[in-house]
Amino acid sequence: MKAIVLDAYGGSDKFRLADLPIPPLRGGDVRIKVRSISFNPVDYQIRKGGPESAPVTSPILGMDISGTIEAVGDDALAFRVGEDVFGYIGTLGSSGAYAEYISVPAELVARKPSLLTHDQAAAVPVAAITASLALEKGKLDASRSLFVAGGAGGVGTFVMMLARQQGIERLVTTAGSPQSRAYLIEKCDLVDKQILNYRDGDFVAQALGRNGGAFDQVIDLVGGVMLSACCQLVAIDGHLVSVTDPPSPTDFEFLFRRNASFHPVGSNAYMLAEDPTSWRKYQDRLAALARLFESGELRPPHVSNLGSLSVETVRHAHELLERSAVQGKLVMSCD
Ligand SMILES: NC(=O)c1ccc[n+]([C@@H]2O[C@H](COP(=O)([O-])OP(=O)(O)OC[C@H]3O[C@@H](n4cnc5c(N)ncnc54)[C@H](OP(=O)(O)O)[C@@H]3O)[C@@H](O)[C@H]2O)c1
Repeated sequence: MKAIVLDAYGGSDKFRLADLPIPPLRGGDVRIKVRSISFNPVDYQIRKGGPESAPVTSPILGMDISGTIEAVGDDALAFRVGEDVFGYIGTLGSSGAYAEYISVPAELVARKPSLLTHDQAAAVPVAAITASLALEKGKLDASRSLFVAGGAGGVGTFVMMLARQQGIERLVTTAGSPQSRAYLIEKCDLVDKQILNYRDGDFVAQALGRNGGAFDQVIDLVGGVMLSACCQLVAIDGHLVSVTDPPSPTDFEFLFRRNASFHPVGSNAYMLAEDPTSWRKYQDRLAALARLFESGELRPPHVSNLGSLSVETVRHAHELLERSAVQGKLVMSCD
């Protein structure tokens, strides 16, 4: 099979096209003919050899796929050959996702929502599971206010969609470029006054002004200086969720003074456990998301297809993600 292999940690020049054997099937696995792959920032973080690379053993990167079941292991009888599925591959697959075939524990996949194309379905697992965890950990209800740093990116797109589906109206998010602002308005149904440019003046004061005070829940999808700003935006008894960094001692002081909670979200946590019943949480979450797509409560996500499985497509995606020049999700076809 065709696969894109990383020869060594470093720049995207370390990727090469390889011809590898189709992965064998373990008892609890399904083998999937990959139809579409989506990219995530963690892909380039692993490529560079950052801390995210520690649990990764395969030279093939990529976490998100949609495809068709090609073989079923003796213990994976919930699925049939020919079914379309989407999955969060993480570190438990035979390899990463940049390949024509992959074998994965059946607990990591669910049936693809029929209303979504393979490109749209591949965009869902990592970003939507992370977004749903972030919203859940913040214990938000529809009457309360939400601030999201980084709303136009992959995870942000699903936070916007899920927040709307949960009836959250008091929502403010950020856009650092005209493209991100236009994306949030055209694809995520936000209105102008819900969007702040974090490059403009006193951003924290503007955010507090937009909401008429501090926010009940704040979700940080950016880290660094933006996480510090998020700490200043949380209300008394509020909740801050970050998918990126821990708060600094100064940030913590803001949280302390507000009696606010801080919750880190690590979407791969269930995968790090050795118990397959923990892995099942991915299937359950994917199946729940699939139901929302099927019922029309969630619209198909916006995706940009960069091309077919090739070194050039992978390099292009990594370059865009590293520049943070992405609205929504980037995908690559594999037909
Ligand atoms: N912990 C987990 O389980 C987990 C899971 C998934 C992702 N993540 C992490 O979450 C982060 C976001 O992931 P993603 O897939 O959404 O990334 P993405 O698609 O690249 O989106 C990032 C967004 O952040 C915005 N941005 C960049 N610099 C900013 C700044 N200084 N202030 C505010 N916004 C800024 C960009 O839009 P603008 O045009 O507005 O700048 C961009 O749309 C990444 O660091 C990723 O590694 C963590």
